[in-house]
Amino acid sequence: MKSPYLLLAALVTVAIACFPARKTGPLYADASAPLEERVQDALSRMSVEEKVALTHAQSKFSSAGVPRLGIPELWHTDGPHGIRPEVLWDEWDQAGWTNDSCTAFPALVNLAATWDRELSLLYGRSIGEEARYREKDILLGPGVNMGRTPLNGRTFEYMGEDPYLASALVVPYVKGVQENGVAACVKHFAVNNQEVRRTATSSNVDDRTLYEIYLPAFQAAVQEGGAWAIMGSYNLYNGQFNCHNKKLLCDILKDEWGFDGVVISDWGGCRDDDEAIVNGLDIEMGTWTNGLSGNASDSYANYHLANPYLARLRDGRATEEVLNDKASRILRTIFRTSMGEQHFGSFNSPEHYAAARKIAAEGIVLLQNDGTLPLSIPEGGKLLVVGENAYKMMVVGGGSSNLKTKYEIIPLEALHEVFDGHAQVVWERGYVGDTTTDYNKVVTGQDLSESRSAGQLLSDAVQAAQDADCVLFIGGLNKSDGQDNEGTDREDIVLPYGQDTLIEALAAVAKKMVVVNISGSPVAMPWAPKVNAIVQSWYGGSESGHALADVLTGAVNPSGKLPFTMPLALADGPLKTERQYPGIREEGQEWWQEYYDEGVFIGYRWYSSKGIPVQFPFGHGLSYTTFSLSDAAVKAAGKDRFTVTATLTNTGSVAGAEVVQLYISDVEASVERPVKELKGFQKVYLKPGESRKLSFSLGRKDLSFFDASKHEWVAEAGAFKALVGTSSEDIAASLDFSLR
Ligand code: GLC
Repeated sequence: MKSPYLLLAALVTVAIACFPARKTGPLYADASAPLEERVQDALSRMSVEEKVALTHAQSKFSSAGVPRLGIPELWHTDGPHGIRPEVLWDEWDQAGWTNDSCTAFPALVNLAATWDRELSLLYGRSIGEEARYREKDILLGPGVNMGRTPLNGRTFEYMGEDPYLASALVVPYVKGVQENGVAACVKHFAVNNQEVRRTATSSNVDDRTLYEIYLPAFQAAVQEGGAWAIMGSYNLYNGQFNCHNKKLLCDILKDEWGFDGVVISDWGGCRDDDEAIVNGLDIEMGTWTNGLSGNASDSYANYHLANPYLARLRDGRATEEVLNDKASRILRTIFRTSMGEQHFGSFNSPEHYAAARKIAAEGIVLLQNDGTLPLSIPEGGKLLVVGENAYKMMVVGGGSSNLKTKYEIIPLEALHEVFDGHAQVVWERGYVGDTTTDYNKVVTGQDLSESRSAGQLLSDAVQAAQDADCVLFIGGLNKSDGQDNEGTDREDIVLPYGQDTLIEALAAVAKKMVVVNISGSPVAMPWAPKVNAIVQSWYGGSESGHALADVLTGAVNPSGKLPFTMPLALADGPLKTERQYPGIREEGQEWWQEYYDEGVFIGYRWYSSKGIPVQFPFGHGLSYTTFSLSDAAVKAAGKDRFTVTATLTNTGSVAGAEVVQLYISDVEASVERPVKELKGFQKVYLKPGESRKLSFSLGRKDLSFFDASKHEWVAEAGAFKALVGTSSEDIAASLDFSLR
């Protein structure tokens, strides 16, 4: 009979051989060591429990580190426009800090309207500095979902309707953020293009449409911007929830694109224990347990990637290999951020407010102008300002991008600063829109109550217009439900609150009338022929009022361009059926089903290909000066490459910037392609009389469509056109060339 002790010794020996002892001793202290060495070293010292703890939330906005090894937790923060005020550990309620009022930067649609890569870098750097200063490691932004429908409540948080424009601007934003040792978490991945039933709708999209329209901005963020984090979206794609969608997260993001960062779920977006483990989710964040249900709070142990995951590891249903991949990605993120190169950031600095003002102003779009702008009010004259948006503060609200800012300059205040002492500035509210002045317990301090009736408000405004030298209407949308607001979509693009009637009534009596539409998404403008000038302004953040006044007075020469089409009516758009939007119920399907039947034909791709007139086209924007484009030419530049050149001249009397845009048209394609696709743009600042020769390069990829059957980009030989202009409709030159 063998000694039991021998048997025990044998068993222990086997056990040690199978499970190499974890390293002990202090963590690899050499912060300058190669990143992967640090990751593997830390991983080798961690228990299974410690690795699992990394993969889910431990509080509303943090996920665990490894306290035993001195590895701090990861702090996540909204949002794309500024650093969200601190909330309680496990509640959405404000923590009540008095030192977390941030710089509110312009909404991302405002940044998109600048068409300025340099400003996007400035934006990313500035917001990254604020995140670092507030000791946040992951910034939950930017959002780059395409503008498939103008009704999407979060259009203001995204970068328009064109993948090339969004791709060009997301890259510098990501780089700027990450220069501060803060991870940009690009969202919401993917095909998350509406708020209606956002947690219960499957976006059913063919591969060509997915790769040509809905993936490019995310791919650019990862492969050119080097994004360290991606957020899975609430919806489903082709029937699987996106926070653990195998095709999106494993096949495309991690395998095809080589993404080495972390995939974070949207809050409560993780819906399944097993899929969460094997389909590419790395950190499950959330509100309560069990997805979105309002379950017990402070129940992080119940999260899909918590106890259920541990149980599967212990009974062999889950492998430590997959866990190690998740843990490695999370450790990599920690070593890139809080345990990476030291950065200190800055917060509420004059430089940040100046950046906010510059970006906001440069994104304001002059849509129409008969010379009435820049404003010219005679000494002792009267400027009548009408509209709630001249007064209402807009930084508060809108959902998770809600901010508490140190100050917000409203348009009316900025106009008083400019005109007081020279002319009278009178304000008439004109209509009542959204009277709320707080969101998530962040308050503006304004009193928007109103006792007058709609009729009284209108007649007061029209009366006041009688003797005004100019009527400046400042209206549009706001961030209340059913407008530009997370969680809801609009019902139509018609201006709410009776504004169309009010504008027409004012236009009938005004000597001069300027309309400023403040919104984050397209609106119908039936009164456009009846007014002298129209300006598209945005949720410009802390300095929005100053930025608008800068443009209206000519202190800044407008150079913004529309990042989306301004249609004449919603019905003109590509979404014709419930099946397309907002989705339908189908027999045997647990979730709503939505079909992207329009394919790649969204935005200007739709309107220009179908010859449908629009109010103002994608890429449109005027200046207080004039420009001309001349000497446009295209020539072959080596195998499969072409160079397009053109000369831009400032033919006016003031300095200004123009955005020269290059579209391609595949004249003889084997598939139906849009009549034009944006493939280049350059923003050029010129003094009066100055000219600049511009050059654009086109390669095979720029001429390709995505061939789903081959799963690759294909540029077919044959005739093409290069269209050079200053908007998608204002084409100065159409240049023929052939690809062999
Ligand atoms: C929200 C949003 C997401 C945000 C997150 C945290 O539901 O969809 O954009 O970053 O939750 O607030």
